[in-house]
Amino acid sequence: MLRKIQASQLEPGMFIHSMEGSWFDHPFWRSRFLLNDESQIEQILSSDVTRVTIDESRGKKLSASSKPLAVLAAEEAKVYTPKLAKVLKQSAQERPRSYLREVAEPVFNRLTPRERAAEVRKASGTIKRSRAAVMAMFEDARHGKAVKPRKLAPLVKQISRSVNIDPTIILNIARIKTKDEYTYLHSVSVCALMINLARKMGFPERQMHDIGLAGLLHDIGKTCIPDSILSKPGKLDASEWDVIRNHPQRGHEILTESEGISDVVLEVCLRHHEKMDGTGYPGKLFADNLSIFTRMASICDVYDAITSQRPYNAPLSASEALAEMMSWSGHFDQLIFCDFVDSLGILPVGTLVRLNQDELAIVIGESPSNYSVPIVRSFHSLETDLPISGKDIDLGRERSRKLVAVEDPADWGFPDWSGTSALVLSKSPAG
Ligand SMILES: [Fe+2]
Ligand SMILES: [Fe+2]
Repeated sequence: MLRKIQASQLEPGMFIHSMEGSWFDHPFWRSRFLLNDESQIEQILSSDVTRVTIDESRGKKLSASSKPLAVLAAEEAKVYTPKLAKVLKQSAQERPRSYLREVAEPVFNRLTPRERAAEVRKASGTIKRSRAAVMAMFEDARHGKAVKPRKLAPLVKQISRSVNIDPTIILNIARIKTKDEYTYLHSVSVCALMINLARKMGFPERQMHDIGLAGLLHDIGKTCIPDSILSKPGKLDASEWDVIRNHPQRGHEILTESEGISDVVLEVCLRHHEKMDGTGYPGKLFADNLSIFTRMASICDVYDAITSQRPYNAPLSASEALAEMMSWSGHFDQLIFCDFVDSLGILPVGTLVRLNQDELAIVIGESPSNYSVPIVRSFHSLETDLPISGKDIDLGRERSRKLVAVEDPADWGFPDWSGTSALVLSKSPAG
């Protein structure tokens, strides 16, 4: 059972499952661990972390006299009505606050249409040049030539500049890939995603070059995979999978033989398919042995892969991809994943939100006119405290309707939000 509690309720012996706040708000390198002594609790209390989630199946339980803020894993699915009604009957002061984040206007609304069009042109040029440079570099590697990272430096700078102005522009363009250019454009996308995430996490600008280059070169080992396997439609057999799984090591070998490759780039290349629970490849390494850069890369890599058209799978939309990735336990670092979601400004399908007309709604997709704005389905009026028959609202088109905040389902009495959201989504909207 997972329980969200105040940091002040922590006791030695409890197992920390997660801490609220960004990566830099808490003093520990790992996000999941057993609290061995009081000094660790003191460290947490002196940081910005005010709420934590403990896993009672892996450590000491919360004493019966202490009340948790929320119970996050219910044994059975519960529908929302009785609990939500109880929460809604509370006075305004007692009602839960939206603590996850107030929703900001998308960045690109600040650009005029003309400025935006100019940025789109510049980003297209950057992508074209980057794709050509990555292709040439992969070709060199295929012929046994050493990689010259200095050639890529100006491109990383241009990608970084574009990401800084508005990440949605370059990411939108790089998402559309033909089969032949997938590997090259995937490298450009992962570079842009890594830089965008690194900025969100507060990395200094001087590290952006290495982080971006790690994204550009992470899959260079794919030059050693025959095209018949890389672009094969349909399922791969076991021996073909072995060849695919070998690409991090092959890439690492290529980069080790090249001059001027930093440790960050080498490590990301070798470890980007490792998973937090030790089930990844090639090393089956557990979280404790995975650096922050590797953890960032594995998120960016998977996100780009599943939002792109690939030989064997249809692409997911951005919000579907985030919802899907969120459900894979043990794969990603959860804190970095939260920063990643934030860095894209996209709300995953199934996210609980509050609208300006005092309604609770659920994210069901992204607006075709603006992919950082969601389409939501309203399902409960806070004014009448009653469920309402769902209406689908494209917030990119209906300007009078605004998203006010992302809400924590536990705060609104949804202990099993996945069950509840499935219930809301299964009902057809009123219009
Ligand atoms: Fe890879
Ligand atoms: Fe990749």
